[in-house]
Amino acid sequence: MGDLASRRFLVTGGAGFIGSNFARMLLQQGAERVVVFDKLTYAGNPANLHDLTAFPAYQFVQGDICDAAAVDKALDGCEVIVNFAAESHVDRSLLSAGEFIQTNILGTQVLLDAAVRAGVERFVQVSTDEVYGDVAEGYSREDDPLRPRSPYSASKAGAELMVNAYVETYGLNAIITRGSNTYGPYQFPEKLIPLMITNVFESLPLPVYGDGQQARDWLYVLDHCRGILVAMERGEAGSVFNIGGGNERRNLDVILTLLDLMDGPRELITHVEDRLGHDRRYALATDRLQALGWRPETSFEAGLRETVDWYRAHSGWWRPLKEGRFTAYYEQNYGTRARLTADSSDA
Ligand code: NAD
Ligand code: DAU
Repeated sequence: MGDLASRRFLVTGGAGFIGSNFARMLLQQGAERVVVFDKLTYAGNPANLHDLTAFPAYQFVQGDICDAAAVDKALDGCEVIVNFAAESHVDRSLLSAGEFIQTNILGTQVLLDAAVRAGVERFVQVSTDEVYGDVAEGYSREDDPLRPRSPYSASKAGAELMVNAYVETYGLNAIITRGSNTYGPYQFPEKLIPLMITNVFESLPLPVYGDGQQARDWLYVLDHCRGILVAMERGEAGSVFNIGGGNERRNLDVILTLLDLMDGPRELITHVEDRLGHDRRYALATDRLQALGWRPETSFEAGLRETVDWYRAHSGWWRPLKEGRFTAYYEQNYGTRARLTADSSDA
């Protein structure tokens, strides 16, 4: 791929958590043009991009990746597509799977068609370790079978298969990255770490699904973005790269570490009903990307500290996100908030 400075990018889903961090990294590294294309769903937030307007190379376009005409227009003059656009939250896929199929599979296929029409030099599909399904022991490798178990992960696996089809059929120069659980600044407060941090700030219960012994491999967002960049620049067409932080932790341990860091009361911990079909563990072998020169640079403890400090300093960013539509979702997902609060104060 060569020097990033000479590249023009379309970053779809770039108003979300990882995409906005990625767009910022591209601009800081001197990309010639970065067009962020985003539908601005509940998870897309112009405030994630507030500082990017200082870069002349930056442009924002509101649009849906399922809309071929809008995609063609935004793609005009771009050489690389990096696709972050997705419905990304597993719990929401259990409440309503339709949007996941629409955006994650159909939207990816629309982007792939546009990429072929425009003759882009590189297509990067940002996927997830969840496509491997539950991994009781050992570490998933890129050639392992796909065994997704939730509507979210099944839709991401479906998107990957479409990418492979376009590599084989049209010779599209595409790669796929499979990142593990990512955390850091600008993450929507429905996901475990920002939900727990902001609930501690608000003295709200910390809902632990089931026994809290499920394990995830935590990856700091900037390490994830650097991994995508390395795979994009050095990965062979048609290849897949795991990106994992090497920080396997059980959920309850993550929450206890956060409470220690924040000096929060353990009484806030509230066990709630488990997620349906909840995968117990994901774990990635990352030697393939490491062989290209990438390593995660942020320890889990340092990354968590930075993340807590960021949420402490940015309550004006997250407080409005936890009102209105979020409360309705939260109540649907966890049962009534009032009941949770009552349960925890009884404890
Ligand atoms: P996010 O939910 O924060 O952001 C998703 C973005 O996509 C939002 O800005 C949203 O507005 C946009 N979007 C949704 N539907 C769209 C559509 N039809 N057209 C255009 N834009 C649309 O998600 P995230 O956590 O930043 O994840 C980004 C990508 O990385 C996703 O593809 C996800 O599957 C993948 N991923 C996430 C993680 C993680 O831990 N967060 C880990 C591995 C992979
Ligand atoms: O593994 C990568 C995936 O990580 C990404 O592909 C997804 O987009 C991203 O959402 C994330 O999926 P998870 O389901 O693992 O993340 P979540 O933050 O929702 O949950 C992390 C773990 O914490 C999971 O075991 C469920 C549990 N959990 C989550 C929430 C929100 C709780 O115990 N309580 C909660 O309130």
